[in-house]
Amino acid sequence: MTRDDEFCNKAQAFEAADDIPTHAHLGNTIGDVINRRFGRRDLLRGALGVGAATALFGSTAILSASEARAGGQGAARFRFDEIASGNDETHHIAPGYRAQILLRWGDPITAGAPEFDPLNQSVEAQKKQFGYNNDYVGFVPLDAEGTRGVLCVNHEYTNEEVMFPGLGRQDKVAFAGMTRELAEIEMAAHGGTVVEIARGADGQWSVVLDSPLNRRITALDTLMAIDGPAAGHPRMQTTADPSGTRVIGTLNNCAGGITPWGTYLMAEENFHGYFWTSKLDFEGKPDLGGNPAAASLKRYGAPGMWYNWGQHHPRFDIDREPNEVNRFGWIVEVDPMDPAALPVKHTALGRFRHEGAESIVNGDGRVVVYSGDDARFDYLYRFVSAGKVTGDKAADMRLLSEGELSVARFNDDGTLDWMPLVHGQGPLTAANGFDGQADVLIDARLAADLLGATPMDRPEDVQPAGDRVYVMLTNNTRRKPDQVNAANPRPENTFGHIVELTVPGGDHAAAHARWDILVKCGDPAVAEVGALWNPATTGHGWFASPDNCAVDADGRLWISTDQGSGWGKTGKSDGLYALETEGEGRGTSKLFFRCPVGAELCGPYFTADQRTLFLAVQHPGTDGTKDYAPFGRESTFEDPATRWPDFRDGMPPRPSVVVVTREDGGRIAS
Ligand code: FEO
Ligand code: CA
Repeated sequence: MTRDDEFCNKAQAFEAADDIPTHAHLGNTIGDVINRRFGRRDLLRGALGVGAATALFGSTAILSASEARAGGQGAARFRFDEIASGNDETHHIAPGYRAQILLRWGDPITAGAPEFDPLNQSVEAQKKQFGYNNDYVGFVPLDAEGTRGVLCVNHEYTNEEVMFPGLGRQDKVAFAGMTRELAEIEMAAHGGTVVEIARGADGQWSVVLDSPLNRRITALDTLMAIDGPAAGHPRMQTTADPSGTRVIGTLNNCAGGITPWGTYLMAEENFHGYFWTSKLDFEGKPDLGGNPAAASLKRYGAPGMWYNWGQHHPRFDIDREPNEVNRFGWIVEVDPMDPAALPVKHTALGRFRHEGAESIVNGDGRVVVYSGDDARFDYLYRFVSAGKVTGDKAADMRLLSEGELSVARFNDDGTLDWMPLVHGQGPLTAANGFDGQADVLIDARLAADLLGATPMDRPEDVQPAGDRVYVMLTNNTRRKPDQVNAANPRPENTFGHIVELTVPGGDHAAAHARWDILVKCGDPAVAEVGALWNPATTGHGWFASPDNCAVDADGRLWISTDQGSGWGKTGKSDGLYALETEGEGRGTSKLFFRCPVGAELCGPYFTADQRTLFLAVQHPGTDGTKDYAPFGRESTFEDPATRWPDFRDGMPPRPSVVVVTREDGGRIAS
């Protein structure tokens, strides 16, 4: 049994598996959509860029990149000199800035951790060392000046072909070389890292190795609590945990968030890929015939069989432990100030492939958490707490235990309806298979289907800021022309787009909002792409596949990208872009940092003083390296496309957190 052989590496399998079409046929032509959407408000707000102009007026409205540069319109609110796009073995940053490698896969995290030895990695070492594929990065300050703090980093997944000597892609060989020891190293390299860091007099950051706060959270051995309406439900009970309230580990932690009360949220994304079955059909795919949970499993794509952990740990085998899969796909809350406290999986926020979990305190004191379900044709969700933020951390840590989860319907007139996922309301009844709120939350996707949520082009990070919410929609090449809707207006959406919500009166708990398309990604110089940018965007500044984002202290939006194996369609590595959202410059993008070949860029996270920016370079040397002409093949441990960041013989590429500061210590891009 293999993962899908058409993909070069795990990252590509991950992308492709985000694909369970469940959308309704909306029957819109793209012309209908453009007429409805670009006839009015976008023009009035001055946001009409190249792509929309092309759609409305034909390709002669397109500006070339050089014309756009010469035009120079758009307020230069981001003060830095844009770098050139491209792709090579290392990273690049805007002039006048430093990019310091702070933490690499294998770096010691706790006192007594061994130094990294890539030829002799062990489970015990990995449990004390920085994990693999750093995605989310958050920072919780420990002093008023913000010169000390706790860094919280997610470790999303592992790439065995560049982690272990002599192994290669194991999914292509039925996991033949994947021993229990290697599987457990993978499990220990997943999860999260909480580590104290400090800024020295020279402005450089370093790890405080003997801090009592330092800890690794893993898929292998970290005990977690389950709370909320689904906790203890029979579908959450397993042989090891008859209570249905305790679970070991967390899986595929992609993005996340720092709550207003200073805890760290880890989003469990592609959890389905870690589950296993021995029951296969004639094509070698999981055979769910006769499985009483087949509808749920199918809707979540489980078991995905991307890892063979289920051969060594029966809890990941759905034939042997059918409910374990229900205990993943949640938002996990971690108190980074209390290493002894159990992380908590909050079932009130629903179970789906959570990309992230960014929150905001609403005007009435309730906390609102936004989260995208990153799969093609899946949905945007919002959680509103029942209680209000008090300022007492222990009390606030109960806010995610109770509240209302809703899913978004984007109407073609630019309005949005939040539809509550509440048992007994509308179709969410026993007649449709939902016996209570636990069923609604465990099968949030099935519930959202029945409510008629809008199928989106892979919702990634969702970032609230003020009365706005930025929604990254990374791409969806499987959307057919008759499946477009106003909020997802391009068929075969290769390059993605960004939707901006405006909540009425700043009320993030309101039942409705308005929405606009901020940019449609891709090359504005190619009419067929149908991109939408402010014409001031240069040939280096436009991007594709927005993934993570951050809003800095000045309220400015920054986007990091993940094109996966598709980077060859743009000729650009992934990177960090500064995107104007206001005034005449709205829709103008500038390239600030770019990744080495084969990497995606995650983070980003700014400290409150805006003098430090944390970036996470994930899976360097792996993604799309066949299209990288100087290399042109798949990477292995012995033969990687880059040895970033060490560039030492024998040292494989290492996912790393990068700290960006200005050489003169000033505020970034100011
Ligand atoms: Fe893990 Fe949706 O990126
Ligand atoms: Ca992501």
